[in-house]
Order: sequence, then structure tokens, then C-alpha cells
Amino acid sequence: MKKTVLLPLLFNINANATPLEVLHWWTAPGEAESQRILEKTLLEKDIEWQNFAIVGEGGDSALRVLQMRALSGNPPDTAQIKGPDIGEWAKVGMLAEVDKIFDTQSWGYILPKVVRDTVTFNDHYMAVPINVHRVNWLWLNKKIFKELKLPVPTTWDSFFVIADKIKAAGYLPLAHGGTAWQDALLFESMALSLLGAEKYRKAFVEHDIAVLNSAEMVTVFKKYKRLHAYVDKSMVGQDWFNASQLIATDKAAMQFMGDWAKGMWNVSGKVAMLDYICVDVPESKGIFSYNIDSFVIFEKYNFQARKNVQTIFVETLLSKQFQSEFNISKGSIPVRNDINMDAFDACAQKSYADFNSAQLVPSFTQNMASTSHLQNIITQIISNYFNAPNVDAEKTVKRLSLAIRALK
Ligand code: GAL
Repeated sequence: MKKTVLLPLLFNINANATPLEVLHWWTAPGEAESQRILEKTLLEKDIEWQNFAIVGEGGDSALRVLQMRALSGNPPDTAQIKGPDIGEWAKVGMLAEVDKIFDTQSWGYILPKVVRDTVTFNDHYMAVPINVHRVNWLWLNKKIFKELKLPVPTTWDSFFVIADKIKAAGYLPLAHGGTAWQDALLFESMALSLLGAEKYRKAFVEHDIAVLNSAEMVTVFKKYKRLHAYVDKSMVGQDWFNASQLIATDKAAMQFMGDWAKGMWNVSGKVAMLDYICVDVPESKGIFSYNIDSFVIFEKYNFQARKNVQTIFVETLLSKQFQSEFNISKGSIPVRNDINMDAFDACAQKSYADFNSAQLVPSFTQNMASTSHLQNIITQIISNYFNAPNVDAEKTVKRLSLAIRALK
């Protein structure tokens, strides 16, 4: 009796003998649950997940570890690489062309152009997209806003008035973790709204020196610095989800963060629009800064023998059921344009509608606009300015444009 049950199981395990090693940085509460949905879905197809999770820094640590593994000739099977970094890895010839693993013909219809462009290099799909996160959100704690009878801030002037009132009432106005990329995310939110989509793109995507060096940019930096008065300085170095936790526990009233924060609030039992509200970053209505997560596949020594495993991996990431289940948990929206959004929360539904109507810009803090090397330098300059007392905005703007010119 026992034997008849065991034999098919053994056969299945042998079919895809080696597990699929996946490098990622989805380790925060919420992210880990979403990752497990992927792990579970793959296991249902007899693919065992070998976790290569690197904690922290919005993926910076993970990318450093990946470089070491790849340089030593032993990359994982697949890794969470996104934006222009995909092209950098493709250039060194380490990635598999996804269109040779999977019939991608339908992708031309089911994936929006911006998604296709992000994962394409030299006319080949070089990564598999999994979701679209929106970055320019402002999250409000509903209880505090109701108690203090505050309106939704739609302009920066009203934002500062509201933040002062929250502070006077003894709550923390801005939940903020204070790592370099989170500092830069605050800056990006403000720059996007004050400069508008066109100039934001010129500065942070095209790295146009005239816009980077402009008086307008100095104004953005000066206004950005005002946010420092509303964060808890003792939280420097904390991860984003520690800050989001302050929203969940009614200690802080607002947070600028991508909608992966919803994944964390999901596991804390917090409900969109009931416990927290999602609104556009002040003065950024009609603009959508996107962050598209994707996985690359390494073409390593055992690649041919394991092609079927890679095929199932690609098929799974894009399957309708997985796209729905995973993205509801992760806080993002599906990459496919044919998924029914009824089961998603109100913030995801707004994100989906905006994604299809707003001006789309790549989030530079989320590696969507430049390689992570250049992005790290930009991030450091912004973060130093935010945290150091008495740093001159004019000098920072010069330093930023000089660094970008030198590194491009
Ligand atoms: C981003 C990633 C998101 C989210 C976030 C915070 O880089 O694209 O999916 O995980 O980091 O960890």
C-alpha cells in the first residue's frame, strides 16, 4: 500500500531533480508571504525552490552577492534583476534569452509596452516580468486623520500645514526608515511632483545636465530638506517595513513608499481604505512612477539539461492565476492586461486605472532609470544632503550633476 503512494512521488521529484535556486530580496513581512506563493505554485509543478534570499537595502546587498557568485562562475538559476541592470547582465553574455525558453509570441498582446520595453534587450526578452509597483504614493493612517479632522494633503503647502498639526498633536507625521534609498525615495516623490513628468525624465532618465543643474532643482532640494523635520531621527538605518509598522500601530500618520508596503499591512491585518488610505503624492496626480520586478535566467553549464524547469518557471510567473494571487499579496498590480481586478483592493484598482491613463515614468530609486551603480551614487548624494546639517542645496546640485557626468 505504502509503495504505491511513494513511487509516483519519487518519480516526480526525480523528474526535475535539482531544485531551482532563486536569488531575491523579498524578506520583509508580506514580501516573504508573496515569495512563498511563488514557491508553492512551483512546487505544485514539481519544482523545488532553493531559497537564496539576501536581506536588506532595497536589494543592494542582494545585487552585490549576485555579482560575486556570477564572477566566480556559479550564478543561481534565476535572480531578481530589474530595469537597465538587465541589459548590463545581458551584455556580459550571462543571461538566457527568454524567447528561446518559452513561446513569447502572446506577450506582444498581453504585456503593456512599458513592461515589454523594460525586459527587452537587443530585441530579445532577457527577463520575465512579474508585477508593477507604483512608487509615488502617500499613505495616510485613517484613525489619526479622522481624530485630528485633517483633509487629504493634495498640495505641498497643505502637506506642511497638516504635518505641523500632526506633530503638535503628539503623533509622528512621517514614518521613515532613514536608509539611503528611502531618503532618495522621499526626494524622488517630491522631485516628480515639483518638476513634472517631462523634466523629471530629462533629469533622472536622460541625465540632462541643464535640468540637473537648474535653479528649479535647487528649489526641489530645499523643499525636500523640510521633510527632515517630520521624521523620527532615531530611525536612521531602519528598514522600510519598520516605518510602515508605525502606520499599522497608529503611531505615525503618513508614509511615502511604494505599494509593497501594502503587502506588509496585509499580514498585520490592516485593510486598505479602512485602516489606511492611499493617495497620490501631493501635486503628482496624473503621473505614475513605476517599478517593475522581474527575474533573469542565467545560462549556466547545466542550462540545456534543465530547460524544462526554466520553461515551467517562466510559464508560472505569467500564468493568470498566479498573477492574481501573487499581486494581491504583494501590493502590486499584474503585468498582464487581461486580469480581472475585482478581487484586488481599492488602491490596486486605482493603481491599475492610473497605470493605463497616467504619464508613466520609471522610478530612479527602484533601479528603473539607470544601472544600479549610477543609481547608488545619486542615492548617496541625496541621502547625505538630507541627513547632514547645513549642507548647501546649490553645492549638492552641482555635485549631483558632476557625478552623473563623470559616471555616464
Ligand atoms: C524593491 C522591489 C519591491 C520591494 C521593495 C522593498 O526593490 O522591487 O518588490 O520588494 O524593493 O523591498
